[in-house]
Amino acid sequence: MELPFAESWKIKMIEPIRKSTREEREQWLAEAKNNVFQLKSEQVYIDLITDSGTGAMSDRQWSAMMLGDESYAGATSYYNMKEAVTRITGFDYVLPTHQGRAAENVLFSCLIKEGDVCPGNSHFDTTKGHIESRKAIALDCTIDEAKDTQLDIPFKGNVDIKKLEAALKKYHDRIPFIIVTITNNTSGGQPVSMENLREMRILANKYGKRVIFDSARFAENAYFIKTRETGYENRTIKEICLEMFGYADGMTMSAKKDAIVNMGGFFATNVKEWYDAAKVKGIVYEGFITYGGMNGRDMNALAIGLDENTEFDNLETRIKQVEYLGRKLDEYGIPYQRPAGGHAIFVDASKVLNHVPKDEFPAQTLTVELYLEAGIRGCEIGYLLADRDPNTRENRFDGLDLLRLAIPRRVYTDNHMNVVAVALKNIYDRRESITKGVKIVWETELLRHFTVELGRVE
Ligand code: F0G
Repeated sequence: MELPFAESWKIKMIEPIRKSTREEREQWLAEAKNNVFQLKSEQVYIDLITDSGTGAMSDRQWSAMMLGDESYAGATSYYNMKEAVTRITGFDYVLPTHQGRAAENVLFSCLIKEGDVCPGNSHFDTTKGHIESRKAIALDCTIDEAKDTQLDIPFKGNVDIKKLEAALKKYHDRIPFIIVTITNNTSGGQPVSMENLREMRILANKYGKRVIFDSARFAENAYFIKTRETGYENRTIKEICLEMFGYADGMTMSAKKDAIVNMGGFFATNVKEWYDAAKVKGIVYEGFITYGGMNGRDMNALAIGLDENTEFDNLETRIKQVEYLGRKLDEYGIPYQRPAGGHAIFVDASKVLNHVPKDEFPAQTLTVELYLEAGIRGCEIGYLLADRDPNTRENRFDGLDLLRLAIPRRVYTDNHMNVVAVALKNIYDRRESITKGVKIVWETELLRHFTVELGRVE
C-alpha cells in the first residue's frame, strides 16, 4: 500500500486555543459591530482572517533571531537578508520596509502621479489604496475566467494579454508601470503561469514599460508552475523563482506571507534609479536603508524563511492543506473559487447566500454567520472590501463576493480544517432561511472593511 501524504515537519511548540459559547459570540460580535476585524483574538477559536504574519517560524528561524544584529547602519542581519533576496530573486538592490504596503508606499511615492493608470491583475486592496490615494487608477486586467468561480483552470490569476495591450495603447504615457500580483490574492490565491509572465514581459518591452511584481506569495506561485505547467516538472522552486523574477524590473514584498515572518517586507530591484529614489522615501517613512522598520533579528528570520519556503516540501505541505479543506467543501457541495488557491479557500457567498441582496453584503453576512456558528474568523473579500467608486461614490458590485478562509502557514492541523468544513456545512444546510444581511452604519473613504461598523438588517 502506498504511504499517505504527511507534513514535512513536526511540532515543537504549541499555543492553546479556546472554544466559546454561541451566547458569548453573539455578544462579542454585537460589540464588534459585526466586523470581525474588531474582535479580540481571544474571542476566536480558529483564526483564518489572514495568512499574513500568522505563520509558525521554524527552529532555524528562531535560532537566527538570537543572532540578530541590531546596529542602526550596516547590520550583518541586513546583509543576510539581502543575500537571500538576491540569490532567490536576482535583484541586487534591496530596501527593507516594515511590511508589504510600506514597500508600496515608498515605491509608489516615487513613481505614481495624479491621473496615472497602473494596469495589473486584481490589485490587492492596499495596492489599490496606494494607487487611488494618489488619484491614479488601478486598472484590472485579470482574465475574465477568474470571475467564474466554478471554472477549474490551472492559472486563473493570469493577466489578460489583450486587455493589457488595449490599456497600454490607450493610456500609454500615463502608465508608470505594470503590476502583476503573484499569486493573485483577490481573485482567490490563483497563480499566474510562466507563459503569461513571459507574454506580459514581451508586451511591456514593446511599449517600453517597466514591470513590478507584487510578490507576497511568489513561492506558492512557483509551486503551481512546477506542479501544473508543462516543462517545469523537473525544475526546482528556486530555479522557477529566478526565471519568474527575470520578467520583472522590481518587486514589492510582504514578507509576512511567503517569507514566514511575523512582520517585515522589502522592495527589491535592479533599476538603480528606482532604488535611489526609493531610498530617500524609505528613510523618511521607514528608517535607515539597512533596516527600514525591521529589527535585525527579524531580518535574520526573514533570510532563513525565504530560503526554507522556496523548498518544495515546505510548499507542498502547505498547499496540500488548502486543497484538503477544498475537498471537504466538495464533499458537502459548498461552492468556492475553483481550483483551491495557494493560501486560502474563497467561498462563493453569492452562491451560498443567494437570498441576501447585494446591498446587504452576502459575503460579510456569511463571515458573520461562520463566526457565530463556531468561532471561526474568516475575512470578506467582496463588496465591502471593493470600497466605493472614487468618482461616483457608489458601491462596486461588479466583482466577486467571497468569504476568504486564509490558512496560516504551519499553524493548524487538518482536524481544524474538518471543524471549519462542518461549520460551513451547517450554515449551508440552513442557507434558505438566511434572507437578511448587514447594512453599513459607519465607514471610511478608503479601505473601509477594516473599521466599518455594521448593523444586522431586521
Ligand atoms: N500584496 C498582497 C498580494 C497582499 O496579499 C498583501 C497583504 C499586501 C500586498 C500588503 O502586505 O500586509 O505586509 O502590508 N495581504 C494580507 C492579506 C493583509 O490578508 O491578504 P502587508
